[in-house]
Amino acid sequence: MKVISVIFLCIIIHTQSFAQNGSMYHEQYRPQIHFSPKAHWMNDPNGMVYNDGIYHLFYQYCPGSTVWGPMHWGHAVSTDLVHWKEQPIALYPDSIGYIFSGSAVVDKNNTSGFGKNGNAPLVAVFTQHDPVGEKQNTDVFQNQSIAFSNDNGKTWIKYKGNPVIKNPGIKDFRDPKVMWYDEGKKWILVMAVKDHVSLFSSLNLKDWTKESDFGEHFGAHGGVWECPDIFYMNYKGKKVWVITCSINPGAPNGGSGTQYFVGDFDGKNFTTTDTITKWIDYGPDDYAGVTWSNTGDKKIFLGWMSNWSYAIDVPTIKWRSATTLPRELKLKHINDKIFIASKPLPALSKNELKPVILNDAEINRNFDLLSKTGRIKFPCRIKMNLKKPEDFTVVLSNDAKEKVLIGYNKNENRYFIDRTNSEKTDFQKDFAGKHFAPRLTTADSMNLDLIIDESSVELFADNGISVMTEIFFPSKPYNKINIEAPEKIAVKRIEYALLKSIWPL
Ligand code: FRU
Repeated sequence: MKVISVIFLCIIIHTQSFAQNGSMYHEQYRPQIHFSPKAHWMNDPNGMVYNDGIYHLFYQYCPGSTVWGPMHWGHAVSTDLVHWKEQPIALYPDSIGYIFSGSAVVDKNNTSGFGKNGNAPLVAVFTQHDPVGEKQNTDVFQNQSIAFSNDNGKTWIKYKGNPVIKNPGIKDFRDPKVMWYDEGKKWILVMAVKDHVSLFSSLNLKDWTKESDFGEHFGAHGGVWECPDIFYMNYKGKKVWVITCSINPGAPNGGSGTQYFVGDFDGKNFTTTDTITKWIDYGPDDYAGVTWSNTGDKKIFLGWMSNWSYAIDVPTIKWRSATTLPRELKLKHINDKIFIASKPLPALSKNELKPVILNDAEINRNFDLLSKTGRIKFPCRIKMNLKKPEDFTVVLSNDAKEKVLIGYNKNENRYFIDRTNSEKTDFQKDFAGKHFAPRLTTADSMNLDLIIDESSVELFADNGISVMTEIFFPSKPYNKINIEAPEKIAVKRIEYALLKSIWPL
């Protein structure tokens, strides 16, 4: 009898743990092709660095809670930027403060002296935020610290001389991003300082000298500047420099967003001739993004797929927030101005099932993708080429009449995503609504790449010049896709592909 009950108990335990594992990463709203932590709160991506075949993604993480709190660096790794494995927490708060946003580099020449046995160390540079100093209104509670790793990011040792950049008496003084500046054989660090960025240089990642400020009179200023990045891209035979910088609030569709500046950098000053404010992503849900370090000529950018206006209220239960898809950045001229175009990485298509391709399709008011393809399931990808810009709307919906609309309005010459009737929107007053992105190109034809997950859509229009990212929370997954147009329109090609989940089933 005893033996039977033990066996029975084992079966129950086994079944339960299988059920738990089986449902892990498959809960309601759980992104299937984006990284999200198994549990608890996440915000900005941090310390993104490639080393020895591994892409590291650290992130602002609050273990034990689904709202922001004492910040740690969570950690995930990937070999292809598609599949992710969550790792143990990398950095814990200490007496200097919480671990806020920052970056990591491979110190190839061991300039820091942290390397061991001829191996290059990883060095992380991050803000420490002292909650006690903040409460006491000291103004100097954000300082920059460093830590190093000699086992490719598995374990980290904080530098004894921290902090390495002391606060001069400015409340918002954070988010260092470091790069190696080969012409000057020195490290360059850009960080956010209230309403602008400051640039510093160093020979050893420990001693930093201020070089310059940028931004007070450029770009958007509706809120505080955060999480900047500086890098160059080889373009038409020369180096073109870029500073990206997130801002909260003050984004084009409300709340937080990321602007960028194209220009030049001489080792000391960044200069730009930009006169308009440019945004990496016009949608409401791409914030605090920066690029991976040590990826050579490729610039790969990834953001936090949420918005400070409502991030702590979104209706996920076990975890909060995901990252956007990683995107490759390229420069492109439109008339005499240079813009950044973002595109999903080619590696994503490894995860695509064979697409259904419809050539020369005519959309006569309504086009039901289900009847043409026989299956609609998320996540999926829709690519569309239109012969010319025309009004259209891609409608994602379910039997409960919940919907998200994605489209283009010719009169206004802008793209839109409307999540007003996407279902769960009442958790925060600013969530429901229609959001816009200008069509920046003047090209005759139009192309779109839509990547739709369980609770998000990323729109890359005109080869990634106009980009929008948006999250939503339907009561049950959408299972219909219709393309609607007020008039007959000619579509050169529609490609529809299911994407496999990146998580084990
Ligand atoms: C941006 C930000 C950063 C800060 C971090 C704290 O989202 O506010 O400026 O370092 O989040 O979690």
